[in-house]
Amino acid sequence: MSLFRSTVLTVANNRVVSSFVQKYGMRMGATRFVAGETLAQCVEAVKEINQDGLVVTLDHLGESVASREEALEATQAAIYIFDAIEESGVDSNVSVKLTQLGLDIDHQFCLENMDRIAAKAKETNNFVRIDMEDTPRLPITLDIFNQLVDKYGKDHIGLVIQTYLYRSEQDVLDLGKKNVNLRIVKGAYKEPSNVAFPNKKDTDDNYIKLVQTHLRNGCYTAIATHDEKIIDELKIWLKANQIPNDLFEFQMLYGVRNGLQRQLVSEGYKVRVYTPYGKDWYAYYSRRIAESPANALFILKNFFKK
Ligand code: FDA
Repeated sequence: MSLFRSTVLTVANNRVVSSFVQKYGMRMGATRFVAGETLAQCVEAVKEINQDGLVVTLDHLGESVASREEALEATQAAIYIFDAIEESGVDSNVSVKLTQLGLDIDHQFCLENMDRIAAKAKETNNFVRIDMEDTPRLPITLDIFNQLVDKYGKDHIGLVIQTYLYRSEQDVLDLGKKNVNLRIVKGAYKEPSNVAFPNKKDTDDNYIKLVQTHLRNGCYTAIATHDEKIIDELKIWLKANQIPNDLFEFQMLYGVRNGLQRQLVSEGYKVRVYTPYGKDWYAYYSRRIAESPANALFILKNFFKK
């Protein structure tokens, strides 16, 4: 992990920094990465994205809730998103984090909440993806996913795999046997070197390898990266191996590499924009700053702008 990323993630966990940023955050530039504080604002943003030919996955921000009440509210919020998608007719699915649904409170309670969301995804003929969080939560996340994909089917629920982890190659092979829909990402959390590659190059090489493995196994793959070098290399490989366009999609984050997103659409690829909304944006926002020194500069400039 780079010194910049590790420092930002450590500072972001500081309570004084966190309350300062939460007070001034929207002015500091969170609107660049967050599509609004309410679902209604966000649906308007999704309409605009759809007009440019891109599809969306909506994320009601929040993670690590402390009470059952908050977890139930987050569950209900995710269920409402499916209703809002149906009513507005926008082209979007939904992404959720299990810590938002009470994973750290009680595993069975979290499973029941996730089950209700997956049931709603199936009922509305839509799809929900479970985001992957840090490694202490990985085994239980996999367990909950496996139970629900068996119950609701791969067309209604998917998972994320992080290529900075040594174990991910085996996870991709195991999940490939169930033919599940995976989003492949590099990984955004601070992880120790006994579980994750310390060198970025190894994570990048593993990225290409795991995307190719999952596609070669005939499984739907969401290629979620802004790394143009990796995207270019994969585009050549996809063509050379005659991978059909309906077996994969590119995914990027709202507000990141907008030009590249639209360029891929103009080349005929499906592109999905991960679009978060809500009041609880701090942790998400901190990880975006940690990913790019340019973002930290952008935020500082915005803070001093009148
Ligand atoms: P990398 O970090 O190497 O960046 C490559 C280039 O992309 C940079 O040089 C820069 O130009 C640009 N770039 C990358 N991030 C940027 C940013 N924030 N702002 C501006 N430019 C940026 N992680 C996780 O652990 N669990 C999850 O569930 C998810 N889910 C998820 C969904 C989607 C749709 C995406 C795109 C990403 C995630 N991630 C995630 C985050 C992921 O793990 C990773 O941290 C980021 O995507 C950044 O890595 P890149 O692959 O973009 O490459």
